[in-house]
Amino acid sequence: MFPPAEMAKNAALLLPPVRAAADRRAVTGILGDPEQGERILGEMCRFVDRPLDGLSVLELGPGHGSMLAAAAVASGARYAAFDIRATLPSAEVERLDIDYRTDPAGALSWPDDTFDVVWSYSVLEHVTHPDALLADVHRVLRPSGRTVALIDLTTHAHGRRDPRLMFEFLRFSERTWRLMTSNRSIYVNRLRRSQWREAYERAGFGIVGEEADAWTDRLDEFRQVPWLDDLSDEDATTRHLWLAGEVAGG
Ligand SMILES: C[S@@+](CC[C@H](N)C(=O)[O-])C[C@H]1O[C@@H](n2cnc3c(N)ncnc32)[C@H](O)[C@@H]1O
Repeated sequence: MFPPAEMAKNAALLLPPVRAAADRRAVTGILGDPEQGERILGEMCRFVDRPLDGLSVLELGPGHGSMLAAAAVASGARYAAFDIRATLPSAEVERLDIDYRTDPAGALSWPDDTFDVVWSYSVLEHVTHPDALLADVHRVLRPSGRTVALIDLTTHAHGRRDPRLMFEFLRFSERTWRLMTSNRSIYVNRLRRSQWREAYERAGFGIVGEEADAWTDRLDEFRQVPWLDDLSDEDATTRHLWLAGEVAGG
């Protein structure tokens, strides 16, 4: 990535017509596919200790995709969803009776102790203030409630399967990275696997499930990348992370 070019692209998104064109093009949503919705529901439920029937579930960041919601509602969940922009089709919100709320500042407007489960798929890496969101998630969960997230730790630009490029974003200072990406869908907060565990614990969660896709068999290649020098082997090789946390009590 060449910082001046990326900064120019990022700044261009402050122009309303450029922003509008980008929003029209952007369709987030492997979750628009019913089979994917069923598959991801199955993956999420591995980390939920109770049947979904009758549980109150909040999904963070559905984007345009309602298929995880559809699969969960078919299993008997009462469903709510939250995003920073209103992108979920309103016909789907009505059909599935989703309590859908949005706030560009990222604050959850539900009262304390509202949900049994809060989950998200490929969302937490995009959150600008993860500590604030996790504290809010902890607040809206009931005692013994669980949060489950799939976190994509790789670049959202080019080189997702290349050990030299998949964590290239770590080359840049926080200030430079924000100037390059803050308005773009490739923005990620760059927290590593161990930092996510720490963030869950800071928010008050006990870790009850962790599963990672780590390319440990290619450790030698990662170890040749200078900007990964300070990372543990685990942090230098983990591409995707499932992390589940539980609120104490009950
Ligand atoms: C890569 S998309 C994933 C969409 C969907 N979960 C999927 O897998 O198809 C990231 C989503 O996270 C949302 N997002 C970013 N920051 C957020 C926040 N603080 N709270 C909730 N959602 C957020 C974005 O608006 C977007 O819908």
